Amino acid sequence: MSKALNNEKLSAVFIIFGATGDLTHRKLMSALYNLVRDDLLSDKFAVVAIGRRDIREQEYKDSVHESIVKHSRNPIDAEVWLKLYKMIRYYKFDFTQKEGYADLHEYLHTVDAESSTEGNRVFYLAVAPEYFETIVKGIQGGKMADRCGGFCRCVIEKPFGKDLATARKLNDAILNVFPEKDIYRIDHYLGKDMIQNIMVLRFCNPIFESMWNNRYIDNIQISLTETLGVETRGDYYENSGAMRDMVQNHIMQILSMVAMEPPVNLKMDSIRNEKQKVLEAIEDIDCSFLENNVVFGQYDEGYINGKEVCAYRDENKVSKDSETETFVALKVHINNFRWAGTPFYIRTGKRLGKTSGEIIIQFKDLPHTLFKKESDAAQPNLLVLRIQPQVGVFFQFNTKDFSSHSGIIPATMDTSSVSPAQGNTPEAYERLIYDILRGDGSLFSRWDEVESAWVIADKLINYREQKKSSFPNYAAGSMGPKRADELLEKDGRIWRNI
Ligand code: BG6
Repeated sequence: MSKALNNEKLSAVFIIFGATGDLTHRKLMSALYNLVRDDLLSDKFAVVAIGRRDIREQEYKDSVHESIVKHSRNPIDAEVWLKLYKMIRYYKFDFTQKEGYADLHEYLHTVDAESSTEGNRVFYLAVAPEYFETIVKGIQGGKMADRCGGFCRCVIEKPFGKDLATARKLNDAILNVFPEKDIYRIDHYLGKDMIQNIMVLRFCNPIFESMWNNRYIDNIQISLTETLGVETRGDYYENSGAMRDMVQNHIMQILSMVAMEPPVNLKMDSIRNEKQKVLEAIEDIDCSFLENNVVFGQYDEGYINGKEVCAYRDENKVSKDSETETFVALKVHINNFRWAGTPFYIRTGKRLGKTSGEIIIQFKDLPHTLFKKESDAAQPNLLVLRIQPQVGVFFQFNTKDFSSHSGIIPATMDTSSVSPAQGNTPEAYERLIYDILRGDGSLFSRWDEVESAWVIADKLINYREQKKSSFPNYAAGSMGPKRADELLEKDGRIWRNI
């Protein structure tokens, strides 16, 4: 992202609620740093970092510097840092105090005048979800959502609601203040290079798009696995679980991008309309679906990279008899002309044997096999979109084994391992912040997408809550519960670990 689209340098006051929090330090500041480094922000840019802590501005800036050194994908450069340093202001404010918003409004006017940002504002809510509504109402009360010459956008971090009902309530509260087009619901997976690349691979390559359907594809697997446990987030995770943490948002978004019809153009709503149709086409989730197609898991103690780790129930701030799922495997069908009959298998979990994000497209075997006997080694054609840690495309196909007279071996092509040119890929947040400033919401979730994803997620979560699980049911360091393997085995398939 080192080139500005249309040479557009972006100008705004970027207001962060939750400026002393983890997200700001780990992601947002590094992203802003790299945007400055790539010369994408104009000099007319200011960051107002709002925190409750009583610290001096210098102290705050020092802590930001430290975080950038730790987390930025590029080493810190004194000149670039100085530019960002000058943009940052620390504003101490307890955002639960209604009265303070009028003062904040005044302050933003001052910053606007000093930095010549022409009234452009982005309100970024990097706070715990219980504060989203409070802050949005405060912004309204302080009359800050009334445009003052420029744009006024609101960025909401996940989770967007805890279920369908709370998501609707939150959405109504935000819509009361900001129109849909100015609401940016973050799903950081959409900022990842390979996720954006799905559209390019599909719609720029006739070889893929012509085969992207149930006639040629046997099954698709979306697998987001982590070796990490819940770390310091036990209290959050207890109320979230893998369903709310990963499936309702990231996985549903990936699924809809993989399965959508070609949009009529690249406009934000054309893309979102097609994604939304996929979620609507997911088969009816009834009792028998839940019994047969969903597996939940929770990790027990085990070994990760040779190091002993504790069970989920022994993590800090986790209940000793927790019923929270740290793993979900799921099979869904998308009932439309393109996909009927081709299952999508989804898998995500913590404390698994490897950290990896992959979309695996397994093609059908040919209807008639000429090389029967000799083809024991033949494997299905696999196209793998590697999201992380490697980024790129992997393709597996069969070829003659030149070392024997008649053998066949699977050969692979892998752009992720042969393309150092891909370099140090920008972090998802850089792309997302850049798009927010440009006013392009294509990589953000529209309300109807969030709503449809909650309709599905709610059914699964309710089922898990009603059903007594025998947790823990997988060892840390394994690839999940045995039943997750059986989910595919009963269809004559396996999880592909590429
Ligand atoms: C977050 C989840 O949304 O995504 C985390 O809350 C998870 O639990 C993380 O670890 C995974 O994101 P990434 O970018 O590290 O794959």
